[in-house]
Formats: sequence, C-alpha cells, structure tokens
Amino acid sequence: MKNVLVVYYSQTGQLESIARNIAKPLLDSGDINVIFHEIQLEKPFPFPWNNDAFFDAFPESFLQVPTALKPIPIEILKTKFDLILLHYQVWYLSPSIPFNSFLMSEEAQTLLNNTPVVTISGSRNMWILAQEKVKKLLKQNNAKLKGNIALVDRAGNLISVVTIFDWLFSGIKRKYLGIFPLPGVSDKDIEESSKFGKVILSCLRDNNLDNLQSKLLELDAVLIKPFLITVDRTGNKIFNVWSKFIIKKEKESRKTWLKVFKIYLLFAIWVISPIVYLFYLIFYPLMMNKIKKEKLYYKGVVLI
Ligand SMILES: Cc1cc2nc3c(=O)[nH]c(=O)nc-3n(C[C@H](O)[C@H](O)[C@H](O)COP(=O)(O)O)c2cc1C
Repeated sequence: MKNVLVVYYSQTGQLESIARNIAKPLLDSGDINVIFHEIQLEKPFPFPWNNDAFFDAFPESFLQVPTALKPIPIEILKTKFDLILLHYQVWYLSPSIPFNSFLMSEEAQTLLNNTPVVTISGSRNMWILAQEKVKKLLKQNNAKLKGNIALVDRAGNLISVVTIFDWLFSGIKRKYLGIFPLPGVSDKDIEESSKFGKVILSCLRDNNLDNLQSKLLELDAVLIKPFLITVDRTGNKIFNVWSKFIIKKEKESRKTWLKVFKIYLLFAIWVISPIVYLFYLIFYPLMMNKIKKEKLYYKGVVLI
C-alpha cells in the first residue's frame, strides 16, 4: 500500500475542494492510503479580510517571513510518504504565509526529505514567480519535484482583480454587481481537476513519476500567458523595494506607509499595467523567441 499525503491551506474552501477532487481517484483506488493535512496557524488570518489586515499581510508575505503553525500530528511525521501533494495559494506574488511557513518548518524538512512531490497552486493568475520561490524551498528541503499544476481564474487580468477583491472582502463567492463573472478558479476546472489525480495515480502505480509532468501538461495542467510573466517580474522588483522599506517601520508609521502602498498598488494595477501591456504588444514580435523559451521553462519542474 502506497502512502500519499495531501497538504493544503484554504480560507475560501477553493483550494480544499481542488485538493479533494485531485485526491479522489487515489481515494477511490483502494490501494493508496491518502492522508489529508490542513496547515493551521497559531494566529489565523481573518476571513473575510478587512482593509487593514489585507495590506498588513503584504511585507511578511512578499519577504517570506514565516509565522507559527500548529504542530503536525506525530502519525503523519512518522509515515514515509511515496508522494506528497502540496497545495498552495499565492499572496503578493509569493507563496502564502501559511504555506511558506510550512515549507520553512523543521517538520516539512522531515516530510519532504528525498520525497517526490507535486505542487498545485490555486491563485488569481499570478503564480509563476511564486512557484520559483517554492522550488527554491523544495530544493532546500531535498524534495523531488515531479509535477506542477497551476489553476487560475480564467477571466481577464483586471476583471479578476475586481472580482477577487469582492470575494476576499465579502467572504461570498458571487457575481459582483450582477455583471461580473464569478471569482476564482471556475467550478468546471475544480470539478475536472480529478483528471490530474487519475494521471498521478497511474504514474504512482507504475513507479514512473518522472513522466508525470509531461502527462499533466497534455491535460493543460499549466497554461501560461506570457504577458503575466512580465507583470510578475516587474511586480517582484517593485514589491521588493516597498516590502523592505515598510517592514522596518514602527507600528504607526507602518500603518501610514501601508496606506500609501495601497494607493500605489491600485495605480500600478489600473494605470501602469495597461501601459506595460501596450509596450508588450508593440515589442511582442521581437521577443517571440525569448517568450517561447520562458514558457517552456515555467511549464517544467526543474529545480535550479
Ligand atoms: C493577501 C492575499 C494576497 C493575494 N495575492 C495574490 C497574488 O499575488 N497573485 C494571485 O494570483 N493571487 C493572489 N491572491 C489570491 C489567492 O492566491 C487565492 O486564490 C485566494 O485567496 C483564494 O483563497 P484560498 O486559496 O485561501 O481559498 C491573494 C489573496 C490574498 C488573501
């Protein structure tokens, strides 16, 4: 009997339902022992979010500062897993604080050491450089990355900004103002995600996880919009400056600067990013080769 661990954290329930759908074929197989572990924080983040808490999470999210987690049950720590499915969401272009804290914990080191893993992200759409940060931590933990699945909101970039804010601040998944699409990963994509579980099951049974990512890619496990790589990269440079500046501030000054950051962020989303998009379209023909190479790399699971 093979052992599979499913690790997740979810505020809205989205990532949990993705985790359960992907695990379904494994659970139904009868020959795989599937164990779920929900990452739990000593001091949970609020959900729904309020304005202050949401922006206050920025510096520590981006700079990957870990927070205290509740301990992982000893039965899980004592088990040697044949595969670990790591589900995470992106916060401020980095792995979320709960998931990042898990990856940086000593317990994760024990669990991940020399163990095959598949990463599964459920984000708005900006996950690419967060995945690079996850890869770095997986390498430090000596994990063996065998597959990656990136589920996103398929609505346009600016539309999903509006709908996700409504979702995260109201706590309700609804069509904002009755005219916007539903936020997040579509119900269809979530339901159909069990197709990834089938492939994972078959590779696991065949002891052939090295072929997993190419099979997952045949099922469109990773779809890359090249413009978002540019936005992600630019965003990382800008967030780097802001987060390092704000994290040094004392309480009251931090509050003030987070307000300034919020205004800047809205300006960057609504004014700078459309301008960057225009430049991107103009220079697209000159960058085609570079874009092709990048797409190939980001679809892969090479740990550098
Ligand atoms: C503080 C915060 C920051 C976020 N930043 C990003 C981001 O940079 N890129 C992105 O694609 N999604 C971002 N999201 C959306 C999440 O990745 C995720 O899809 C959403 O919060 C659903 O929550 P759940 O996975 O906890 O259920 C952010 C969400 C929160 C709460």
